Amino acid sequence: MKNLVLCVTFNVLFFIDTAYSTVQIQAIDRNIHYLPRENFKLVCNVTYSKDDPTPEVRWMRDGTAVTAVDGLKARAKVRWDSHNHLSILTVEGAKDEDAGNYSCIAFDKDVELMRDNVRAARPLTVKTARNLNFVEEEKLRITCKPNREASIYWVFQGEEYRESRDRVILEDNVEDDETHPNATFVIEKAQRSDRGQITCVGTDPITGETANFSCMVRIKDKYAPLWPFLGICAEVIVLCAIIIIYEKKRNKTELEESDTDQSPDQKNTPDHGKGTKVRHRQ
Ligand SMILES: *[C@@H]1O[C@H](CO)[C@@H](O)[C@H](O)[C@H]1NC(C)=O
Ligand SMILES: *[C@@H]1O[C@H](CO)[C@@H](O)[C@H](O)[C@H]1NC(C)=O
Ligand SMILES: *[C@@H]1O[C@H](CO)[C@@H](O)[C@H](O)[C@H]1NC(C)=O
Ligand SMILES: *[C@@H]1O[C@H](CO)[C@@H](O)[C@H](O)[C@H]1NC(C)=O
Repeated sequence: MKNLVLCVTFNVLFFIDTAYSTVQIQAIDRNIHYLPRENFKLVCNVTYSKDDPTPEVRWMRDGTAVTAVDGLKARAKVRWDSHNHLSILTVEGAKDEDAGNYSCIAFDKDVELMRDNVRAARPLTVKTARNLNFVEEEKLRITCKPNREASIYWVFQGEEYRESRDRVILEDNVEDDETHPNATFVIEKAQRSDRGQITCVGTDPITGETANFSCMVRIKDKYAPLWPFLGICAEVIVLCAIIIIYEKKRNKTELEESDTDQSPDQKNTPDHGKGTKVRHRQ
């Protein structure tokens, strides 16, 4: 069995050597970014000797011929640019599921001669809330969601946090059955000085492509909920004070008024007194 395989392999190699001495296939760009609903193109450059026939180029995605992938085959068209010796795969109306590892493979009949790989993906994005408010001494928590697999780190007050340290705890973010390691940023007890931009940075582990998104964090005074209450108290106190002062003034003016009412009587009293005295004397 082993011998048979070896024998076939040698025959194939011999065949390749004779029929295609110099076939090369090379992706023009090994990383393609596409936007949803737009068309995208994957291009492989085929070089071969003038004496050789044109090799056949087939395209696969993640190991399956694109012509055999439901939901892709109707939108995928392969074209041969005979002038530039380019095999061009066009995918129309791109969808999220079109992301993957594509291969352009040069064949001679059913024998693979050479292949190259092109990775197609949507541009990496990461997202957090744009603004978040937390209360001092309470838990500060921000989640970051990349649109595809990415390693996540955070920038907080000019420092990078790639794992939990100091007051920062990084946790996994589990959302829609996807787990994104370190995509949750936590500070157990927020301080007022934590106010500012907290940035989530995602990196594509294969291409190194990065994306970031910043969240503006504000920390509210822990007594903040008290302020409206204290405000009402202050209002009541001021109102009471006004009423008291007003009442006092009114009492005073009433007193003064009764004073002035009484004064003629008091002036009269000596008269009366005199009168009485007079009367007494009389
Ligand atoms: C294809 O490859 C050949 C040989 O490497 C090179 O000379 C040629 O410029 C390439 N064509 C394109 C379009 O990159
Ligand atoms: C793409 O698939 C090929 C096998 O078809 C593999 O050798 C290659 O490492 C894969 N590339 C990536 C980026 O996954
Ligand atoms: C997440 O953090 C842990 C330590 O907390 C670290 O070991 C790991 O490499 C990080 N994961 C990624 C994907 O960066
Ligand atoms: C975030 O992205 C912008 C624009 O691409 C870049 O200028 C900035 O340096 C990035 N910030 C971080 C912390 O990576």
